Amino acid sequence: MTVLTYAEKINLAATAIERACGKADIAVVLGSGLGDYVEALQDASSIDYHDIPHFPISTVEGHKGRWYAGTLHGKTVYMMQGRFHAYEGYDLAEVTMPIRVMQKLGVSTIILTNAAGGVNLDYQAGDLMLITDFLNLSGKNPLTGSNLDEYGPRFPDMTYALDRELQALTLAVAEKQHIPLQKGVYCWLNGPTYETPAEIRMTRALGADAVGMSTVPEIIVARHGGTRVLGLSCITNMAAGVLDQPLNHAEVMEMGNKVKDTFRKLLDGVIEAL
Ligand code: HPA
Repeated sequence: MTVLTYAEKINLAATAIERACGKADIAVVLGSGLGDYVEALQDASSIDYHDIPHFPISTVEGHKGRWYAGTLHGKTVYMMQGRFHAYEGYDLAEVTMPIRVMQKLGVSTIILTNAAGGVNLDYQAGDLMLITDFLNLSGKNPLTGSNLDEYGPRFPDMTYALDRELQALTLAVAEKQHIPLQKGVYCWLNGPTYETPAEIRMTRALGADAVGMSTVPEIIVARHGGTRVLGLSCITNMAAGVLDQPLNHAEVMEMGNKVKDTFRKLLDGVIEAL
């Protein structure tokens, strides 16, 4: 039996997606509760993750598991309805395989969205946040192991992990549309437990504004491969201990649902302005 390398698996997945959906210039990863945004695509085509060879399958409620392509404001766009998280048991090569596939298919801009807990005490549930930088407190890195030299260097720079131009463009769009947009540092912790109040105090002391269980491995791999990346969080709840009440996934989904129209308006404006 031949054992395929990771690079070969990426190529096979990319070929299947290209066959089903063609190519695209922009890719959007839709976080918890934001999957309905695929409805915005014109001339949409799609492929189920099950039908993409070597692709992982999403297991979380609110993450459906389909790869879409279509046009929006005259631009070709992929949308991933459902992402992979380390807490599901995937290794980070699997978690970030979609980003490699996007790079293989020539995507120039990746927009990562997520649901996050608000750590900054000036935030409120329902706020949207532009990710300006990240803290990786997971103890893991998706580039661990032999380097994929054809994608990027062994020691990639993370000074400008989140693209500055895309941030400026997003802030301008938000201002024009009168959408309040926080700017902050996203902290990745593995999950699946929500954090303890002590952990949240720690992340705040370290400079985090929001906390979540995704996105950072994808940012790292996007940057490694030289793809420009924008990150947007929906603050679905205040993080543990900020309010004297427990957290649950239903609340996260519900708030995601409440703000999805504003979120879409912002995303739409960004894609139009790209
Ligand atoms: N913590 C971690 N991940 C999350 C949260 C949170 O409070 N809310 C949404 N995703």
